Amino acid sequence: MNTSWSPGSWRSFEARHQPSWPDAGELEHALKTLSDQPPLVFAGEARNLTAQLGNVARGEAFLLQAGDCAESFDSSADSIRDRLRVILQMAIVLTYSGGTPLVKVGRIAGQFAKPRSSPTETQGDTELPSFLGQIVNDIGFSEAERRPDPQRLLSAYNRAASTLNLLRAFTRGGYADLTQVSNWNREFVASSPAGERYAQMADEIDRALRFMDACGVNSSTVPALHEVDFYTSHEALLLTYEQALTRQDSLTGDWYDCSAHMLWIGERTRQLNGAHVEFLRGVKNPLGCKIGPSATPDEVLALCDALNPDNAPGRLTLIVRQGADRVTETLPALLAAVRDAGRCVVWACDPMHGNTYTAAGGRKTRHFDDVLKEISGFFAAHRQEGTWPGGVHVELTGDAVTECLGGGDGLVDGDLEQAYETMCDPRLNGRQSVDLAFRVAELLRDQD
Ligand code: PEP
Ligand code: CO
Repeated sequence: MNTSWSPGSWRSFEARHQPSWPDAGELEHALKTLSDQPPLVFAGEARNLTAQLGNVARGEAFLLQAGDCAESFDSSADSIRDRLRVILQMAIVLTYSGGTPLVKVGRIAGQFAKPRSSPTETQGDTELPSFLGQIVNDIGFSEAERRPDPQRLLSAYNRAASTLNLLRAFTRGGYADLTQVSNWNREFVASSPAGERYAQMADEIDRALRFMDACGVNSSTVPALHEVDFYTSHEALLLTYEQALTRQDSLTGDWYDCSAHMLWIGERTRQLNGAHVEFLRGVKNPLGCKIGPSATPDEVLALCDALNPDNAPGRLTLIVRQGADRVTETLPALLAAVRDAGRCVVWACDPMHGNTYTAAGGRKTRHFDDVLKEISGFFAAHRQEGTWPGGVHVELTGDAVTECLGGGDGLVDGDLEQAYETMCDPRLNGRQSVDLAFRVAELLRDQD
């Protein structure tokens, strides 16, 4: 691999899954405007996340990375708050019941671009460009809506900024105070079995907090009880957008992609000689890379070399998505190869993308049991190889959707039409998410 890197060096490599923008001048203009905007995140924050992920890589903490498959520009403040709330609920379950410090990263405030299996979509006699995420075009099936529009790059930046602002307010301004744990359990989730289990746990936490308060320990003496470290991430798919938000840190001289704290490379764009690996190897943010079932141990090691040549703990998270039926067969060899090569990585399990199928009515779905089965297989493989199952990466929403089957409510095919709202992949709803957190916490406890 070429060793000289610049924010634009990816342009001499093959970049898959980039839109065909109809007007090059309009695109250049939007990118110029974008590169004049303030950064969304700061280098110091990205360094803090790398340090926290370093603890995960060493087996001393657990990563929860969660959020939408494709965020919408139209998400209401309530919907953003509810997504955060479910992630906070899952985090508290994992911390309290799993007994492990938790690193919290949202697929949020920038998850707007999607790779698609086909560049076009046909309905009836009409063939139009596929929907590539609202950063490129719109989901409606008309020529105007599907036309890639560079103004959307600026809308994405603005949506990311306002979402991040809200998240910072919620996580720093008292909403995430530990005394609020029972208040996070609202309506839709609270009335489910997992929600009831959560309410019991919240009561125990409240009692412990009252005891600590009586001993003089509360959020005025320990600020960590009042605030939550919450980080943002998305797939760094659209390289022009990512480049325009890449800045040199004045303290260290290092380059950071300031569109999010953590960026990941998708399963479809992780080619070693491709533009995505080239771009991301040069920015100092913590990185993720999806690892699907076709990845060989040699390929994974080569990705470690390319993306983390210094073997820095926390720099690289391998997000494995093998599929529930394959994970116990395919994962051990990858774990062993990375372990034997002395490579320090975070291993996270994405139990969503290897388990998607089309239900009888034509909706894309996933079954809660498959999601859980892949996570169990992930833990089993780590137990076998003596490595640390570092975290989970899931697609969820706080909304009361019916997109994934199973879970406590036993959702079946016929329920999918009730509230199928996703713009891309099916997400766990709030109840299924909290339920999953309890199951993962049990696996975590058993791992020790
Ligand atoms: C995703 O995370 O939404 C996605 C497209 O995943 P993958 O790259 O693993 O297919
Ligand atoms: Co997805």
